[in-house]
Amino acid sequence: MVSLQLQNVEARYGRKVIYGDATTPPISGGHLTALVGANASGKSTLFRRIAGQLAGGGEVRLTGAAAHDLRYMPQDTGMTAALTVYESMILSLKQGSGGWRLSTTDLRAVDRVLDQLTIPQLAGTSLTELSGGQRQLVSIAQTLVTRPKVVLMDEPTSALDLYRQYEVLEVLRDYATETGAVVLLALHDLNQVMRSCTMTVAVSGGRILAAGPTLTTLRPDLIQKLYGIEARVETCSRGCPMMIVDRALPIAPAA
Ligand SMILES: Nc1ncnc2c1ncn2[C@@H]1O[C@H](COP(=O)(O)OP(=O)(O)OP(=O)(O)O)[C@@H](O)[C@H]1O
Ligand SMILES: [Mg+2]
Repeated sequence: MVSLQLQNVEARYGRKVIYGDATTPPISGGHLTALVGANASGKSTLFRRIAGQLAGGGEVRLTGAAAHDLRYMPQDTGMTAALTVYESMILSLKQGSGGWRLSTTDLRAVDRVLDQLTIPQLAGTSLTELSGGQRQLVSIAQTLVTRPKVVLMDEPTSALDLYRQYEVLEVLRDYATETGAVVLLALHDLNQVMRSCTMTVAVSGGRILAAGPTLTTLRPDLIQKLYGIEARVETCSRGCPMMIVDRALPIAPAA
C-alpha cells in the first residue's frame, strides 16, 4: 500500500518561509486526492517541497515508494524541445532508467497512454506546434508513461475544455485504482473535486487548514474560509453533491 504523509514540514524560498509546520494524515493510494486553496495559498509550494525542489525541515514520509517513484507535473510546463510528442514520451520513459534500449513493452506503454488520453493522432506532432490544451495533455501523458507510484499534478486540467477535463480525471482515477498510486491533484473546480476526489487537503496562507474525506471536509464553512465566497453544498437530482456559489464576500483571501 502506497501512502504519502507530511510531518512538521517546512518549505521556504531562501529565507522566506511559506510553510512553517505542515502536517497531514496519510494520503493513501488507489484513489484521487485533491489539493485545494486560493491563489497564492501555497499549493505549488507544497508540491515543490514534496518533490524535493525546496529546502525545509520536517519529513515527507513515503510508504511503499521511494523518492524516485515520484513524478511531479508543474503548473507551467515549458515545451520548447525540438521533439515530436512520441519522442518526448520515449525520453520521459527512458530518463533515469540507465539505458536507451527500447523494448516492445516501452513502445506499447507509450501507445497505451496516448490512447487512454485519446491523443494518438498527436504522436508525430512537434512539441512546439501544440495548442495550450494539447501541451497539457502531452504533459500528463509524459507523467503517466513511467507508471509512477506517486503522482503530483499542479492544476492538470487548467487549460482543458470540458470534455477533456472530464476525460483526464477519469483517466487519472482509473490509473490510481489500477496501480494503487498516490495521486495528488491541485484543482480549482470544487464540483470536479467533489465528483472525482475521495480525499481533500485544503491549504491557506501556508497552513494545512483541513485534510480528510472530501464530502465531510469541503463544507460551506471551509469553502468560505478558503475562498471568501458564500456557497451551498446541495444534492443534485441524481443524488450527487454539488456546490452552488451565492456571493463573493467583500474581502477576498490575501493573494
Ligand atoms: N519562487 C518564489 N520565490 C519567493 N516566493 C514565492 C515563489 N513562488 C511562490 N512564492 C510565494 O509563495 C506563496 C505561495 O505561492 P504558490 O505558488 O505556492 O501558490 P498557489 O497556491 O500555487 O497559487 P496559484 O493558485 O496562483 O497557483 C505566495 O505568497 C507566492 O508569492
Ligand atoms: Mg500554483
